[in-house]
Amino acid sequence: MTYDSKHTEIVAPKEGYDAVADQYWQHHRHLNSFYEINFLQLLPRKSSFDIIDLGAGDGRMFYQLRNIPHWEYVALDISQEMLKKHPRWAKHLVADLEERFPLADESFDVAVSFFTLEHVEDVDNFFSEAYRILRDEGKLFIGHFFQRREFTWNLHSKVFKIQQFKRSTEEIQEKAEESWFSVEVLHSLDKGVHIGDIIICTK
Ligand SMILES: C[S@@+](CC[C@H](N)C(=O)[O-])C[C@H]1O[C@@H](n2cnc3c(N)ncnc32)[C@H](O)[C@@H]1O
Repeated sequence: MTYDSKHTEIVAPKEGYDAVADQYWQHHRHLNSFYEINFLQLLPRKSSFDIIDLGAGDGRMFYQLRNIPHWEYVALDISQEMLKKHPRWAKHLVADLEERFPLADESFDVAVSFFTLEHVEDVDNFFSEAYRILRDEGKLFIGHFFQRREFTWNLHSKVFKIQQFKRSTEEIQEKAEESWFSVEVLHSLDKGVHIGDIIICTK
């Protein structure tokens, strides 16, 4: 087991999110408040899209993307318990973003990944796999928000944090560009304070 400097247990994402799957929805409103974005306006004109959510969790993003017409919506996550809560209209795929994504080359127009990249250690793999599965001019939207410290979960008297890897937006942008994406960054502000970024990567 791993502990932080205050002796709080640090658990791996799969174990952590399996454990908090019943409670996660209680944080939707707070997470939604970090940004306001009209995804459809940022997409090319098309009658329908194939969409993948990388680290889909219980479907918070599914509701945000519901005005985008889609052929297929794939919700990928390492936590089976989180996916059990995800709307069943999406295709559920249990997979690890640290590995090769079990998906065909050039099979999606849009990928989103919110509040997830901080849990992924191998960012090079993440971007090269995201690039591989996107079609030409496909877009990857990353929600990256600044946290001074990891969230502490307190469930039935078990206290723990879920493992994270802290990175700046600049580091993420550099990694995306190394994988051949063109990158644009939209700042999220709360009462004038910069609280995070939406990183838009175009293939
Ligand atoms: C903070 S939640 C975000 C969920 C959702 N994207 C949202 O915005 O509400 C992080 C999600 O990433 C998933 N995750 C973390 N590491 C992962 C990995 N290596 N592979 C796949 N999913 C992962 C977790 O299981 C969890 O559902």
